[in-house]
Amino acid sequence: MSQDSYAQSPISQIGDMLDDGLILTDLGGVILSANPAAVRWFGESLTGQMIFDVINHPNIGELFAKAADGAKRYEMRYEPTNIVQREFRMRLQRIGDQSVALLFLDMTLQRNLEKVRRDFVANVSHELRSPLTSLAGFVETMLSDEVPDPAMRTRFLNIMDEEAKRMSRLIDDLLSLSRVEVDEHIIPENRVNLVELLHSVGDSLTGRAMKKNMRIKITRPDNAQSCDAPPVIFGNHDEITEVFVNLLENAIKYGFDGSDITLAITMVAPRHLRIDVTNFGEGIEERHLPRLTERFYRVDKARSRQIGGTGLGLAIVKHIVNRHRGSLSITSTLGETTRFSVDFPLAPSQ
Ligand SMILES: Nc1ncnc2c1ncn2[C@@H]1O[C@H](COP(=O)(O)OP(=O)(O)O)[C@@H](O)[C@H]1O
Ligand SMILES: [Mg+2]
Repeated sequence: MSQDSYAQSPISQIGDMLDDGLILTDLGGVILSANPAAVRWFGESLTGQMIFDVINHPNIGELFAKAADGAKRYEMRYEPTNIVQREFRMRLQRIGDQSVALLFLDMTLQRNLEKVRRDFVANVSHELRSPLTSLAGFVETMLSDEVPDPAMRTRFLNIMDEEAKRMSRLIDDLLSLSRVEVDEHIIPENRVNLVELLHSVGDSLTGRAMKKNMRIKITRPDNAQSCDAPPVIFGNHDEITEVFVNLLENAIKYGFDGSDITLAITMVAPRHLRIDVTNFGEGIEERHLPRLTERFYRVDKARSRQIGGTGLGLAIVKHIVNRHRGSLSITSTLGETTRFSVDFPLAPSQ
């Protein structure tokens, strides 16, 4: 079969539909056709080249010869040296009497996901082990009768109490995270009035804020009032509450004593509501901003731990916002303001 007739053959049309790379050669290894994915990875004008010059793998010659010989399918892992960090599963099989097909399944995404999962399990284990080790140490000390002083015993019990609470916070956050991940593809359909919700979240955290002499102010600029659409979005009430509890808790934790926190609600085009949570504090260096929503990412790990953080809050926020087809953006000026802005699409009025 000539190269031209290959280009019009059904197998070449199927190749066009594939995300995986597909190369067809004759029995001698001359490339007859390559689909768009293969061209993207291995270069233009593949047709006419020898497969052994294109695929840079020590076993390609041997494997190709075996495939060309019989009907059996062969497979090997292939990590091209000229493309950065890609990994393929390469399959070779003779097709009919005159050609060999090479299929390249891109395993990169799967490999990266596996790495993310492994890292996550390692992180969780580590985060749980440190309070557990501390707890076990104190239990042992208390059991050994070496602490007769009642004041000392009380102090140890308080530390143990803190460590137990830390583990329980971590587990609560892990459960929240897995719950929203499971539901992420489902668009919520209950109507949620954001202004009412923000007032109740603000009220529930006023006590916490007052301990640091901070006030939570909710502002609703004119354009939100004058707009005829009510501040209603399609959402899950508990999840949206969780978003603003997390953002407000952070604002309280990382804000300066005695400063104000503002929650501003504005209408933005086209038909979106934006809520800005702004606090005055040390701020966040720009280089950290893109990574803040990663699980367990904290600017200052020791400090976050000390003030009761788990490093999961913003990861939960991001997932919930995604589920609601919203967006999250973060801006910060060092030593001044930090602002978390959440946009949600407005629900159509009934
Ligand atoms: N308002 C803020 N001001 C300064 N830093 C913040 C603020 N909110 C979040 N951060 C930073 O982002 C990190 C991740 O936040 P989060 O996921 O909620 O975890 P944490 O449990 O530590 O609060 C925090 O450890 C902190 O370093
Ligand atoms: Mg937090």
